[in-house]
Amino acid sequence: MPAIHANNLTKSFDGFVAVDGISFTIESGEIFGLLGPNGAGKTTTISMLSTMLKPTSGTATVNGHDIVTKEDDVRKSIGIVFQDQSLDEELTAYENMDFHGRLYRIAGEVRRQRISELLTLVGLDDRKDDLVKTYSGGMRRRLEIARGLLHEPKVLFLDEPTLGLDPQTRNHLWDYIARLNDEKGITIILTTHYMEEADRLCDRVAIIDRGTIIALGTTENLKASIGGDVVTIASPDPGAIAGLLTAPWVSGIERHDGSVTIRMQDADRHIPGIVTDLHRSGIGITSLSVRKPTLEDVFLHYTGRTIRDEEASGKEAMRMFHRAGRR
Ligand SMILES: Nc1ncnc2c1ncn2[C@@H]1O[C@H](COP(=O)(O)OP(=O)(O)O)[C@@H](O)[C@H]1O
Ligand SMILES: [Mg+2]
Repeated sequence: MPAIHANNLTKSFDGFVAVDGISFTIESGEIFGLLGPNGAGKTTTISMLSTMLKPTSGTATVNGHDIVTKEDDVRKSIGIVFQDQSLDEELTAYENMDFHGRLYRIAGEVRRQRISELLTLVGLDDRKDDLVKTYSGGMRRRLEIARGLLHEPKVLFLDEPTLGLDPQTRNHLWDYIARLNDEKGITIILTTHYMEEADRLCDRVAIIDRGTIIALGTTENLKASIGGDVVTIASPDPGAIAGLLTAPWVSGIERHDGSVTIRMQDADRHIPGIVTDLHRSGIGITSLSVRKPTLEDVFLHYTGRTIRDEEASGKEAMRMFHRAGRR
């Protein structure tokens, strides 16, 4: 049984289609990422899956339970860490955990044991009696994750888990999330607009843009799907290089002023041969670089835009303005 199965899931707000018929399956034990720019529909998607929002149409199951007809079963089997922080600042970490455990009616001794185990897992055991208001952003996020796991859910939803955290804290949190998945076998579905986060953490990624999934696969497959590594050769005669590189493993060539950009699988293996051929043909090379494609290249390939540009344009109003203008 898959952990999550979504079929044509759709959500409209007053006629505006925020999530437009998305379908995917997440296997048990996966870390699955929804990667896309602001406003893509990520939060709306996981809000539907976690029964916080009713879909306009389409269906989905979580741990085998239908998200509309079996809301309670879904809720019992999931943990959620969403963006609006809901910790009590005036309580200690332990007290926050304990309160949540009582809400879920977890019996005393079991509750105490789990709290201790989870606080250790997220590295907060030695600070458990400190008030949350003394915690840093990263510690709060870790505490929220620990709390979301108290009732032993099979699936954990994380909405932009490292949003607003500094790079070092972000790295730590990635380690905790990976360990959680590894040691407890919990299925994790997270949303992010950080391509590096998706790349580092996720087994598979769905790239979402304007409410639709534009590509889905392992990060490796996604990168390979756009034609492989990116090789850039600068030369006094880029045209001659483009003419020479006709091998079947070359999946694309672009000429620029003074350089050529070539896409190919396994560039590391082909580079020596290319350099030899160019040398034999008397074509000079000024410089040569090989770059592995990133998820940003994948997003660019499928949308013609970069996630970073989307972020840079910032405010929702601006985006709506551009969107309206393009129609
Ligand atoms: N309650 C709502 N009412 C109206 N529009 C909404 C509501 N929630 C989200 N939207 C819109 O739906 C789109 C997707 O939002 P969201 O799922 O929050 O995107 P993301 O999480 O990827 O940034 C955005 O254009 C947003 O403005
Ligand atoms: Mg969001």
